Amino acid sequence: MKVLVIGSGGREHAIAYALKKSKKVDEIHAIPGNPGIAALGTCHNGSVEDLEGILKFVEEHDIDFTVIGPEVPLCKGLADLLEDHGHKVFGPRKFAATLEGSKAFSKDFMARHHIPTAAYKEVNTYDEAMIALKEFSYPVVVKADGLAAGKGVVICEDEKMAKETLKEMLVDGILDGAGSKVVLEEFLTGFECSLLCFTDGKTIVPMVSAKDHKQVYDGNKGPNTGGMGTVSPNPFLPENMEEIFQKDILNPFMEGLKKDHMDYRGVVFIGLMIENNQAKVLEFNVRFGDPETQSILLRLDSDLFDIMYAVSTRSLDQVEVKWKDEHVACLVLASGGYPQSYAKGKVITGLEKVDDDVVIFHAGTAMKDDNLVTSGGRVLNICALGSSLQETREKVYKAAKVIDFEGKYYRQDIGLR
Ligand code: AMP
Ligand code: GLY
Repeated sequence: MKVLVIGSGGREHAIAYALKKSKKVDEIHAIPGNPGIAALGTCHNGSVEDLEGILKFVEEHDIDFTVIGPEVPLCKGLADLLEDHGHKVFGPRKFAATLEGSKAFSKDFMARHHIPTAAYKEVNTYDEAMIALKEFSYPVVVKADGLAAGKGVVICEDEKMAKETLKEMLVDGILDGAGSKVVLEEFLTGFECSLLCFTDGKTIVPMVSAKDHKQVYDGNKGPNTGGMGTVSPNPFLPENMEEIFQKDILNPFMEGLKKDHMDYRGVVFIGLMIENNQAKVLEFNVRFGDPETQSILLRLDSDLFDIMYAVSTRSLDQVEVKWKDEHVACLVLASGGYPQSYAKGKVITGLEKVDDDVVIFHAGTAMKDDNLVTSGGRVLNICALGSSLQETREKVYKAAKVIDFEGKYYRQDIGLR
């Protein structure tokens, strides 16, 4: 089989790495890919948002199966375009992808299908927002409706901040179209965790748990990032949550898909807040998480291609999804300054000195004059399997010391409380 992976991050490198292990996968291609993926297959220039260009590529290169990594092409309808031309795809169609593409749509879906979530109100104008604001106490959560690359959620401590944020989104349009509609939401307290599942719309199979560390600094200080590291299993997850997740979240979610005739085939990544053994949904993402995927897929003990193909062909109930009873840590090496501005083009050294039992996924790297250089905020993902969290931490932190580039930054407390 010739498989095409859409995307360029550590998540897509981890997907390509797992697919490469399948006997059924003969060739891996990526658009645009990255230098790490280039070691597993062939990377091709192109934008993940150029839907027609991707269709043309699939047809010209006789691609058998396309795996779509990021949310933007999913929300734009890449799965629909490819499928409607007879190609097999992993990733939900546009209507289902709206669960991530529109916060208001997603909240309405939850309300309609009795999926526990924070109280909310959708507003379309600043005046409407001022009236709705009176129904909430502080802090209040202000969410831009559309995709905003992680900048769409603001936790407002007081009325002044809420008004400013609402003005920026609804009047000034700082998030362009993404903020022309806004969801106001009750602030939830508790412990955050994410639940990733494979689903073909009929069957849903939860993956092993993973803990993401979102804030940039140790001790969960500083601004939110895309994720500074993950461990799997999630050491903080209370016991017996699996049953609660199934009953309170996954069962009504699947019922909802059915009732709304939503053809959902791919990954659903559910952001949850847990308090007193109750789970509430913060958000749905219609794709793998980054860097959760890097940890989770290293624990997969089944053939990822078989699972993805079964999802695509609505036969997930026919495959076994097995996991290794091991721990994984994934540490993000970032460019100093991330998630704000940071330098690019810094030469990366020391990769050859890393121990063999460490897996490095590329997230923001590029080749320049035969050198591997930094090209993003999150540069490399250092991952290791082990029999304990402690062992995996030792492995990844040892590697983090020998890899170097100017401005290298990483959290010291991945996997710790
Ligand atoms: P979202 O993109 O909706 O997951 O929001 C991004 C982050 O904002 C989440 O990971 C939470 O840390 C925080 N957040 C979102 N909604 C709420 C809420 N209702 N209460 C508390 N924190 C929230
Ligand atoms: N790590 C969070 C995300 O992928 O959205």
